[in-house]
Amino acid sequence: MSEPYTDELTARFGCALDLGGAAEDNPWIRQVLLRRTQRRYSDRPVPEAVIRLILAAAFSASSKSDYQQATAIRVDDRGQRDKLAALIPDMPWIGGAPVFLVFLGDARRLERISKHPVNNGSLEGFFNATVDAALALQTATLAAETLGLGTCPISVLRNHIEAVGEILALPDKVFPVAGLCLGYPAQQGFISMRLPPDVTVHRDRYDDSAAAAVEAYDRRRDTRHSIKDRQKSPELFGTAEFYGWSEDKARQAMSPEGTGFAEWLKARGFDLSK
Ligand SMILES: Cc1cc2nc3c(=O)[nH]c(=O)nc-3n(C[C@H](O)[C@H](O)[C@H](O)COP(=O)(O)O)c2cc1C
Repeated sequence: MSEPYTDELTARFGCALDLGGAAEDNPWIRQVLLRRTQRRYSDRPVPEAVIRLILAAAFSASSKSDYQQATAIRVDDRGQRDKLAALIPDMPWIGGAPVFLVFLGDARRLERISKHPVNNGSLEGFFNATVDAALALQTATLAAETLGLGTCPISVLRNHIEAVGEILALPDKVFPVAGLCLGYPAQQGFISMRLPPDVTVHRDRYDDSAAAAVEAYDRRRDTRHSIKDRQKSPELFGTAEFYGWSEDKARQAMSPEGTGFAEWLKARGFDLSK
């Protein structure tokens, strides 16, 4: 009989993982280890109470200094949703998901509630609001998955920041961190293999010397699910003999994303040099 988590850890990391001892068996942790983004949803409607419960859980996430700088917009109106979906036609799940939320970093509220001249448009204000929104987003994801739903975060909204800002009527010092598609999954989906803890967890001091572990990860991931035939921009980078995660992500990171975002933030009251 296998130890608790053996199957889940192998599914997540593509290899056996030593926990260094016995760990208590917990069904929710198993579910987290097996979690996956879902981009196809069934027609089954999401009850209003479930949406509100997920949002209540999301806003139970911890918050830097208790400043509570996350805000979510429920995009319920079909016309509003269609406008957002039309910006990104290659991601039809934005228009097709039964529910669509947008998680915002909200550096404005702190200024609005204050009787003192608070200026929250510094890098610190921006960063704190971003972290709060990201924590709320991920808590919504885990809450939704716990209730049997699937989710897909949508950060490409920021690649169309002018239009998104207008559609959602975002005021100064409020910016989208990511959208979130929600619905009951139409298919099982697949588990995206993660880098091993040798690479992502360091002890006592920073140490990124585990290059061989990344190479081994590339090979494991390729064995499970090859992307050899989906090479990005071969006209620029050529066709690689071995095309793994590292090469794929390096190529992806070479094409600029969110290029107008810095200017947009600047025009909306942020000065990130301070
Ligand atoms: C902040 C954030 C933004 C993301 N933006 C998008 C997006 O715009 N479109 C999309 O299809 N998936 C998006 N994703 C989903 C990632 O592609 C996905 O999490 C990643 O491939 C790992 O897969 P997994 O979540 O199934 O483990 C985003 C995820 C995060 C955390």
